[in-house]
Amino acid sequence: MTAEYQVHGDVAVITLANPPVNGLGLSTRQGIVDGLDRAQADAAVAAIVITGAGKAFSGGADIKEFGTDKALQQPNLHAVIAAIENATKPVVAAIHSVCMGGGLELALGCHYRLAAPGCSVALPEVKLGILPGAGGTQRLPRVVGVEAALNMIVSGETVKSELIGSMPGQKLFDKMAASPEALAAEALAFAQSIAAVRPLPLVRNLPCKHPEGDAYFQFARNMVKGMAKNYPAPLKCVDAVEAATKRKFADGLAYERELFINLMWTSESRALRHLFLAERAASKIPDVPADTPQRSIQSVAVIGAGTMGGGIAMNFLNAGIPVKMLEMKQEALDRGIATIRKNYEAQVKKGKLKQDKYEQRMALLTTTLDYADLKDADLVIEAVFEELGVKEAVFKQLDAVMKSGAILASNTSTLDVDKIASFTQRTQDVVGLHFFSPANVMKLLEVVRGEKTAKDVLATVMAMAKKIKKTAVVSGVCDGFIGNRMIEQYGRQGGFLLDEGCTPEQVDKAMEKFGMAMGPFRMGDLAGNDIGWAIRKRRYQEKPDMKYSKTADLLCEKGRFGQKTGAGWYDYLPGKRDAIPNAEVVKMIEDHRAALGITPRKISDEEIVQRLVFSLVNEAAHILEEGIANKASDIDVVYIFGYGFPIYRGGPLNYANEVGLFNVVQAMQRFAQNPLDDAKFWQPAPLLARLAAEGKTFN
Ligand code: 3HC
Ligand code: NAI
Repeated sequence: MTAEYQVHGDVAVITLANPPVNGLGLSTRQGIVDGLDRAQADAAVAAIVITGAGKAFSGGADIKEFGTDKALQQPNLHAVIAAIENATKPVVAAIHSVCMGGGLELALGCHYRLAAPGCSVALPEVKLGILPGAGGTQRLPRVVGVEAALNMIVSGETVKSELIGSMPGQKLFDKMAASPEALAAEALAFAQSIAAVRPLPLVRNLPCKHPEGDAYFQFARNMVKGMAKNYPAPLKCVDAVEAATKRKFADGLAYERELFINLMWTSESRALRHLFLAERAASKIPDVPADTPQRSIQSVAVIGAGTMGGGIAMNFLNAGIPVKMLEMKQEALDRGIATIRKNYEAQVKKGKLKQDKYEQRMALLTTTLDYADLKDADLVIEAVFEELGVKEAVFKQLDAVMKSGAILASNTSTLDVDKIASFTQRTQDVVGLHFFSPANVMKLLEVVRGEKTAKDVLATVMAMAKKIKKTAVVSGVCDGFIGNRMIEQYGRQGGFLLDEGCTPEQVDKAMEKFGMAMGPFRMGDLAGNDIGWAIRKRRYQEKPDMKYSKTADLLCEKGRFGQKTGAGWYDYLPGKRDAIPNAEVVKMIEDHRAALGITPRKISDEEIVQRLVFSLVNEAAHILEEGIANKASDIDVVYIFGYGFPIYRGGPLNYANEVGLFNVVQAMQRFAQNPLDDAKFWQPAPLLARLAAEGKTFN
């Protein structure tokens, strides 16, 4: 049982004990009901306190139980709350640290609530694509008012207990404890003080009205509609809260339940729940246990103050970690520092960063031209030109000067991390840290595990990633690692589509309608088409059998590198990022097509989306099978946080699961028939073929 029962004097205390956050799984729910039964049967008990052990009152329903039989087994959360409401003795919730979702709903079912200051209070269900399903939409408006409740429910945002406690007229908390430490004793005293009071107060009996009624909810609906776009849950939250103001409590509760169950079955909710668990699972490496010792990272060095070096440095400065930057020339350092300043100043101007914070961060940044100055850094990240020879020179110097135990990292996006490690005498200390551009903004960090990378190095950089607010995913060594290896296939399909009859605009629009933050050609213009060109030139040598469209090379030969040259697949006005279609580019594509003797055909958006997304899926299946990625969900995390894949689709592999792997394979077999495509590539990866044949998913 994951709830404990103790009696202190005449007060019974039920303590939720289901670490890490006291999720309300079956055995915890059963434990609460058993505790209530015991307390009511014990004549010596006059009142009951419910609280949580460890770092939470409760984080809500057990997300890991969703979709399993346990979620359906009685007592469900409704039954637990009913048991509390119907208890013959007063039940007091003693709330601290985290009180969210079903945890808050449980507390709202109690007769009284005491909260410690500093507690994070929320109904965050909307972030999982659902709504509060155990009375939250019906009870919260009754204690904090309709508008405050709707704001909390639609946004899912956390509010601190002391803020709610100071809201005039609020009835959520009957009392604020003086401090988290004082909560337990104050809860006991409070329970004793109200033990004899009858009738027992119930939130459900409080009135729930909004003075503007229909007009307010119409306004709320318009606001939410504009923001919710691809997510059905937020509008349903409005419906449910409106029901609280218009229907009898029991009817509102039933309506909430119906909406909750329907939302639970939406693909958007499945995607969001998948992602919640995937993001947390990504930090776990199968053969690196959680108790692996970590090295201390108190100072960082960055080699190269270019596009990436500057952004990387900012991450550490933001986290209060001092950074020393090294360049070959003073001018390059000055340029790099000026860019960092410009980025921070833009934040100050927008009011996102206080002037004094900006100055504190800049004070943590120092520069040097001399490797000897880096020797004491705990971690050094190299972000110089993407050429193996240049990397070799840098790593040999680092090997010569860095203190023993320092972690040596490369930000390379395609080069062989094992080769880079071999330039040193300390291969165990070398790791890839592949940040994404802009490095101070993008959440993804691919941690590239070399053949010799030590486990404590991995444990250290995974923990460090959290500190600098990145989502880290481990990749093995291969060309492009997880993300860029997959994007190569996606880019190749984009090229074939142009040759077969599409315009860049048509492809981009189809992908953006699917939900990608940017279509492949707009993305190329942003990243710089010259970068892809350089990589392709290398691959033409290394993979002579691989089929490529030459259209992107023709574009680069015209010097159309993208936004940085004001011209790429599209035109760009100075200082603007809007992509303006260019007739010459379209003509270039048409001429090339004619030269190849291809008669253009009309290609549907559906075909565009399937070819691009399924190319990611097939390559991902190879990546999984080769052990480059540890698990399918890691690949989804890479694409959501690094490549603008739509969150509500849960990543390419979750999307493939939703489509059905059998259907995915069927489509691939169709694409393989197209003589202008790459039949060899479309042979389903063995893992994919196997899963499809067995009717399984990537999970
Ligand atoms: N159920 C099960 N496990 C949960 C959980 C939950 N509700 N909330 C968090 N966890 C687990 C995480 O999976 C993670 O597990 P791991 O250690 O095995 O990876 C662990 O708790 C720690 O989570 P975080 O890394 O997120 O820890 P933080 O300290 O940063 O944050 C938190 C803690 C604020 C509770 C955060 O985890 C969170 O926001 N959780 C989601 C809360 C939520 O959405 N609750 C609503 C659930 S739905 C519901 O209640 C339905 C009801 O209306 C019927
Ligand atoms: P950049 O050209 O903007 O910056 C490189 C910097 O390194 C320049 O300032 C240069 O003066 C400096 N440099 C070169 N050789 C040096 C040496 N021997 N010692 C010290 N400094 C030296 O390049 P960018 O874009 O920042 O890329 C750096 C690395 O990051 C590359 O490995 C690249 O593949 C990788 N990367 C780039 C991404 C991008 O989108 N630009 C994304 C992810 C990784």
